[in-house]
Amino acid sequence: MAAYYSDELINEIIASNNLVDVAGSYVKLKRSGNRYVGLCPFHSEKTPSFQVSADKQLYHCFGCGEGGSVIQFIMKIENLDFVEAVKFLAARANIHLPEGNEKASDGEFFRKKQKMLEMYVTAARFYHSCLMDEGGNIARSYLAARQIDLSTVTHFGLGYSPAGYDALYNHLKEKSFDEGLMLESGLIRKSEKTGKYYDFFRDRVMVPIFDIRGNVIAFGGRTMAKSDGMKYVNSTDSMIFNKSKTLYGLNFAKKNCSERLILVEGYMDVISLHKYGFTNAVAGLGTAFTPEHAKIVSRYTKELIICYDSDNAGQAAVMRALSVLSATDLKLKVLVIPDTKDADEYLRLKGAAKFKKLIEGAKNHILYKIDRLKQEYDIENTEQKIEFVTKAAGVFSEVGNEIEREAYIAETSAETGISEEAIKTEVNRISYKSNNAAPKRTYSTYKTAEEKQDESVFRAQAVLLSLMCGDITVWRYVRKETDESLFDGSPLQAVANDIYSYSAQNKPPDFSVIISKTEDETAKKLCAALTSQQDVENPLKAAEQIIDRLKTEKQKQLINAAAGEGNPAKLAEMIKNLKK
Ligand code: CTP
Ligand code: MN
Repeated sequence: MAAYYSDELINEIIASNNLVDVAGSYVKLKRSGNRYVGLCPFHSEKTPSFQVSADKQLYHCFGCGEGGSVIQFIMKIENLDFVEAVKFLAARANIHLPEGNEKASDGEFFRKKQKMLEMYVTAARFYHSCLMDEGGNIARSYLAARQIDLSTVTHFGLGYSPAGYDALYNHLKEKSFDEGLMLESGLIRKSEKTGKYYDFFRDRVMVPIFDIRGNVIAFGGRTMAKSDGMKYVNSTDSMIFNKSKTLYGLNFAKKNCSERLILVEGYMDVISLHKYGFTNAVAGLGTAFTPEHAKIVSRYTKELIICYDSDNAGQAAVMRALSVLSATDLKLKVLVIPDTKDADEYLRLKGAAKFKKLIEGAKNHILYKIDRLKQEYDIENTEQKIEFVTKAAGVFSEVGNEIEREAYIAETSAETGISEEAIKTEVNRISYKSNNAAPKRTYSTYKTAEEKQDESVFRAQAVLLSLMCGDITVWRYVRKETDESLFDGSPLQAVANDIYSYSAQNKPPDFSVIISKTEDETAKKLCAALTSQQDVENPLKAAEQIIDRLKTEKQKQLINAAAGEGNPAKLAEMIKNLKK
């Protein structure tokens, strides 16, 4: 964990970014006493489980378990690391971050990254101006022929990379960018033979790729030539670009996709969709849809409609994406585009109204899979019918909702003449097998008495630590009465160490700073324990009671351990002490 910002500075940044406002700009929050509740931005849900405690400045979702301080909130929702999130929030609150606060190496990395981003946006502007200049005539007509109008060109920052070999190189040189960095960016290459620098993208229509905040981080370059060759040339991964974590168009779509997001295959599909008013569309970057993509998507929307190209390759890719997405709780649908090859072509030929109808009629993923199976097998043939129903049972076993499952089974039974009973038995057999292969635990699963006990101790410890941070008198009192060993073996040990060893005299340690630096799982559990905690009227008294309880708990633990050791004398002694 990067700890090179002083606690004071982090404290100031947290204090200047009220979590209610920050979270409220992503999620609609409703006030309920001292708490604010809303639909969780980290998983899809219909009833609000996400809560922000205004006085504690912590959030917690009891649906998915996410939780933390404003820093963790920004890390997760904006996909940033700790340092980036601190910078993000500092900028939001107009707090100047002195550069000296960074470790030399990290500071250098960050500066280099900034410089790289600057280079990319400079390149994007250059390509755009080349498109608008005389030299961009052919590219402009190419776009016009594809019905991409000027306002769309501007919106997406489209450009043209000149045909010569060093136009961008000269431009970047003029702007005093470092040649080493140019090479590292991938925008410029160096010929081994001649030692000359040359542009990577030449004579292509340029599509800048943005990160979620709108920084240009890569390019896709489309050839205008009819002959195939390489249709697209794309930036390779770099310090600012990770293909498998980027979705093209999400910077535009993020505000319009809370209900539903459309996933397409190509840049051109996204551009067309947005142009026709479907501003909730994104695309992968020509590579497979990854678990990272799935995570990002489920952060922004409840329902995903996959609308890949209608050819076989596209439909095979749909199946792969669905299997990656099955780990999420997104509502999944598939739109198969009729008559044309992709969303872009469909929109151009048939218009927005018809496409809207297609969206409304998109099939849920289970029915889509069954449709595909039907095309594969001829159910008039007994052998193939058995195969079909067996495969279908496999698909139905993915359905969590029993009613939904029953409905599908009934339909398949009616279609094939195989009894519902038989299909159901097969579905259950498959579910049983897969459940036992990989035991899954969800938040609501049954807990043993021991686990409940551990949880209640954890909660008591969490409350004690938060009380210590709320009041210097309590902090002093707890430190007088106990020491860190009270937390031995607890997941909160490190947090407790921080709080106990805090050295300032007149004010208690800052709890939200400590949580911000706490490892993810522990932070989540802490927030879960604390956001549901009622305000304490007499903190000192509460601390006293909790200490009592934790000490007793500790003794019980020691007794259990001694019992395990098989030392009756020691055990008797301990029990005697406990009774005192
Ligand atoms: N792609 C690529 N390299 C290629 C072909 C495709 O990187 N040689 C990626 C691009 O991200 C492209 C996506 O795969 O956007 C989908 O490919 P395709 O459907 O062929 O591209 P479109 O964006 O639909 O382009 P166009 O409409 O111009 O054919
Ligand atoms: Mn396409």
